[in-house]
Amino acid sequence: MTRVGIHDLSMATGQHVLDLDELAAFNGTDPGKYHVGLGLDQMSVLAPDEDVVTLAASAALPIVQAHGTERIRTLLVATESGVDASKAVAVWVHRLLGLNPGCRVVELKQACYSATAGLQAALGIVARNPGEQVLLIAADVARYDLDSAAEPTQGAGAVAMLVGADPDLVTIEPVTGVRTADVDDFWRPTDRTTALVDGRLSVSAYVDALTGAWDDFAARGGVPVEQIDRWCYHQPFTRMSVKAHRKLAQHVGAAFSDDDLTDASRYNRRLGNSYTASLYAGLASLLDHDDDLAGRRVALFSYGSGSVGELFTGVVEPGYRSAERAQRHAKALDERKPVDVRRYRDLHTAAVHRSDVDVEVPVASGTPFRFAGVRSGARQYVPGA
Ligand code: CAA
Repeated sequence: MTRVGIHDLSMATGQHVLDLDELAAFNGTDPGKYHVGLGLDQMSVLAPDEDVVTLAASAALPIVQAHGTERIRTLLVATESGVDASKAVAVWVHRLLGLNPGCRVVELKQACYSATAGLQAALGIVARNPGEQVLLIAADVARYDLDSAAEPTQGAGAVAMLVGADPDLVTIEPVTGVRTADVDDFWRPTDRTTALVDGRLSVSAYVDALTGAWDDFAARGGVPVEQIDRWCYHQPFTRMSVKAHRKLAQHVGAAFSDDDLTDASRYNRRLGNSYTASLYAGLASLLDHDDDLAGRRVALFSYGSGSVGELFTGVVEPGYRSAERAQRHAKALDERKPVDVRRYRDLHTAAVHRSDVDVEVPVASGTPFRFAGVRSGARQYVPGA
């Protein structure tokens, strides 16, 4: 059978960063709650001329530059932060990246989960057409109300993946475990720009989805737990992956260590939540920091509130290490410009644009692509300055 999986991967994030110590000082919280209790140190914040479209295109640009566009016949953008109820984020991204007109393009939605549905669909496409590649981008801006309990778990990020046959990075194995249940733990009605959430319910719904997906995985002939070398979870806050890992250990009767998760959470501690991108930012972090992954099997757990969970495995290919990729990711995180709480709160409010008012957004960032404003109700995207 043809090996299919992730051939290359690239992460991008916002131009600004808020240190959670500053948020803690502002709202009188012990910073230990954020650093230890939630496992978060910072959150990415977007500049006024960034949004989910510019994030998605920026993440994918290095992939297109490295591999060309000839074989890309499908572009999937998975996001919870779509900017139009009809037009797909992927259509703007397709133009910004200069992809071929002969390319199917669509946006996928199911809270933080949809990139995994996109990955499974992409694997099916490339298994049937091994000459083709699918560009899959998970991109999100996690936004909750100011002064809410969920506020420290915001963030932003995008991960682009080139999915193809004979992949250079990770071969995805065929068995997956899935679990869907209708739960009102986190959702965003179309008249809102911030999510509604029942925090406690969301944590228990996540764990139920994990154990349910594991049971389905096991029932369908997935490998036993002893044959899994590394674990990578959706990380709305990195401590969630620790809670999940402990629960799964109890569920399957295994002895896991919290240390199993350190390398897969280094980027997420600094990004904050990035919804669809969170699991794959975790994978990027693991690939960039663990130098003993060749031939190792990684279990990945994807969770999207509402709720859908999926657990699957991949085997890391020899030669997966790339100093260039790791440096690029470190640069994206290190070069964010710090904002104080006042500026962050202004940006949080300013991010919302009405469609019935024309607006021109001045150049604010040095990103490869910019949101330039709204003209006749339509959002405008242009190459960066
Ligand atoms: N030092 C160390 N730890 C501290 C501390 C201190 N000074 N003060 C508190 N803590 C610990 C608490 O003991 C608690 O630990 P446990 O969870 O192990 O008990 C932890 O910090 C968090 O404290 P609280 O439970 O009091 O926090 P909270 O009620 O203010 O809210 C939250 C936490 C529910 C996660 C909230 O931030 C939230 O609603 N976030 C958004 C929802 C979310 O991310 N849910 C995750 C699952 S859903 C999902 O995965 C989809 C998605 O992406 C949204």
